[in-house]
Amino acid sequence: MKALLLAGGLGTRLRPLTENLPKPMAPIANKPWLEHLIIHLRKQGVDQFVVACHHYSEVIRNYFGEGQNLGVKMEYAIEPFPMGTAGAIKNAKDFFHETFLVVNADIVHLPELLPLLEFHYRHKGMATIALTEVEDPTSYGVVEQDKNGQILRFVEKPSREEAPSNRINAGLYVLEPSIMNHIPSNQEVSIERQTFPFLIENKTGVYGKVINGYWFDMGTPSRYRQIHWDVLDRRSPLTIMGREYQKGVWIGEGSKIGNEVRFIPPVLIGKSVKVGDKAVIGPYAVIGDHCHIGKGVKFSSSILWDRSTIGDHCQIKESILAHKTSLSSGKLLNHSIINQSEKVMYA
Ligand code: GTP
Repeated sequence: MKALLLAGGLGTRLRPLTENLPKPMAPIANKPWLEHLIIHLRKQGVDQFVVACHHYSEVIRNYFGEGQNLGVKMEYAIEPFPMGTAGAIKNAKDFFHETFLVVNADIVHLPELLPLLEFHYRHKGMATIALTEVEDPTSYGVVEQDKNGQILRFVEKPSREEAPSNRINAGLYVLEPSIMNHIPSNQEVSIERQTFPFLIENKTGVYGKVINGYWFDMGTPSRYRQIHWDVLDRRSPLTIMGREYQKGVWIGEGSKIGNEVRFIPPVLIGKSVKVGDKAVIGPYAVIGDHCHIGKGVKFSSSILWDRSTIGDHCQIKESILAHKTSLSSGKLLNHSIINQSEKVMYA
């Protein structure tokens, strides 16, 4: 099966982390989210991927190439300008001649595809939207369905009383290629705001099917951090790389830990990291591969991306520091987001 991965948004809410990085390439537990996603979808039977991209598309291409390292085929549909979620689908039309999947590549979820595909083939609609159930639907587009699962309408940001359900668009669709006939070419079009509402109004067969499991949109810094804490607390089933050295403390291959270092779980340390003497790491700390943490550093509720260096006695709290951050000794950071790198280089 073939999937189109939507990865061309500007990720403005996650700036400055996304200033030189497509949002789906932001690491989750030390691996780009897009890689976790492709590995998961491959296990579910998807073996061909087209990535719809624009903003820093070369970061994605350089990292995945033709997909040989992951055992899948990867191709790219690069947009001349951000064409929106439906415009991106139309731009990739030549890749799709059979039923296909579309996945918002910035949603952290590990969906089970079989029930969704079975539902789609049984109802024979033009589109099946995967739905997720949320506790508070008031900040989303909420669906109203008939008894067969056909979507009757989306109600945008309803009050609790007006919400017809607690089911929202999960950012995963099964589509028939005929949907291309309903999307104009060479312009920005949103599937959520334009294409689906148009198709629903014209009763073209847009269905919704609830999928279970962890679902989280990484769109803002606080959500991006929360996903990590959910991974460390094992609320998200994402695989954690590294050996569990003590309960709730994972350490990657080749890392060297100094004397009298204190880990306060949960903590994830990547590969080939050096942690200086008397550092206190955690609770809630994620340190990327090839980082160097100085002596006496205190690091908690924070995420550090690969190849960064933190000078001696720095104190870092509630922060996110992007690739190759370099902090001189004694810096105090609280609620900071730093992206110093001019060009993102994944090893
Ligand atoms: P914000 O600017 O912070 O709203 O983020 P965004 O626009 O990158 O993401 P949004 O949540 O609006 O989009 C959902 C998904 O669709 C993400 O995976 C985006 O990468 C993707 N997406 C959004 N706009 C485009 C686009 O114009 N082209 C492509 N190919 N993908 C898009």
